Amino acid sequence: MKQMIARLAVAAVAMTVMAGGAFAAEYPKNKPREQSWTFAGPFGTFDQAQLQRGLKIYTENCSACHALSRVNFRNLADLGYSPEQIEALASQYEVEDGPDEFGDMFFRPATAADAFPSPFPNEEAARAANAGAYPPDLSLIAKARAPIRGFPAFVLDPFRMYTENGPDYIYSLLTGYKDEVPEDVNVPEGLWYNPYFASGVALAMAPPLFPDMHEFDDGTEATVSNMAKDVSAFLMWTAEPHLEERKQLGFRVMVFLLIFAALLYLSKKQVWSRVEH
Ligand code: HEC
Repeated sequence: MKQMIARLAVAAVAMTVMAGGAFAAEYPKNKPREQSWTFAGPFGTFDQAQLQRGLKIYTENCSACHALSRVNFRNLADLGYSPEQIEALASQYEVEDGPDEFGDMFFRPATAADAFPSPFPNEEAARAANAGAYPPDLSLIAKARAPIRGFPAFVLDPFRMYTENGPDYIYSLLTGYKDEVPEDVNVPEGLWYNPYFASGVALAMAPPLFPDMHEFDDGTEATVSNMAKDVSAFLMWTAEPHLEERKQLGFRVMVFLLIFAALLYLSKKQVWSRVEH
């Protein structure tokens, strides 16, 4: 019996290692670099100032190519903005509406009830402007891009409660452009070499961040690394705005279960105390 259990255990370990190896994809060439995030771990919370900086980077920069179709302007109240500030920001964007009484579609300034629109009228126009590649909607990108971690990380991740794969990937991508291309790598015309890109050696997005291109009221230095981190945190919020509530609920459930277990143990002792041995 003992021998069988030992054999089964060895087989399970071997299969886990093999599975890790089999899923280890060719790309990204470089694994995302793990960052420390305020929203990591069982008690993690978003850093509101960081999310505000991230929003600024998105609106001044990324929104020139990427939509956030699942984030309505009014959701920005979560980041501490007043209704007036939200209306003011929304009115800088135009959304298509209609048809009017003549059956024509028309453009109007966005309101708090609209989502961040795509700057392109359709996918074909977006591709035509970006070397044939489509700038994806960024609302859920922090969840959609989570490169497979391989062995042993994927076995350890649940114990470490590691779920920041997405923001680590976005951060690494934004800071991962390299001028020097290794000799054995062939970068197609019009693409940019980036060994952190999940689907190839190069991508159609030119490096979007440069030092000092944004200014922050709170005095945060606009290094590429700082900006990449802030915008990645912001995209984690767009993908999971209720992360904090989820973590708090998880904690409450654990406390409830602990108290419940203690009560069950005490009542079991009480009930069995009258049984004669
Ligand atoms: C000039 C247009 C442009 C701007 C500005 C831009 N992007 Fe992109 N982005 C693209 C294009 C095009 C792609 C698709 C690249 C491809 O698939 O080859 C892309 C892809 C991405 C991806 C997905 C990568 C993947 O794994 O598929 C992320 C994440 C991203 N951009 C984030 C950002 C962020 C954050 C900003 C602002 C700091 C930004 N982008 C600014 C054009 C842009």
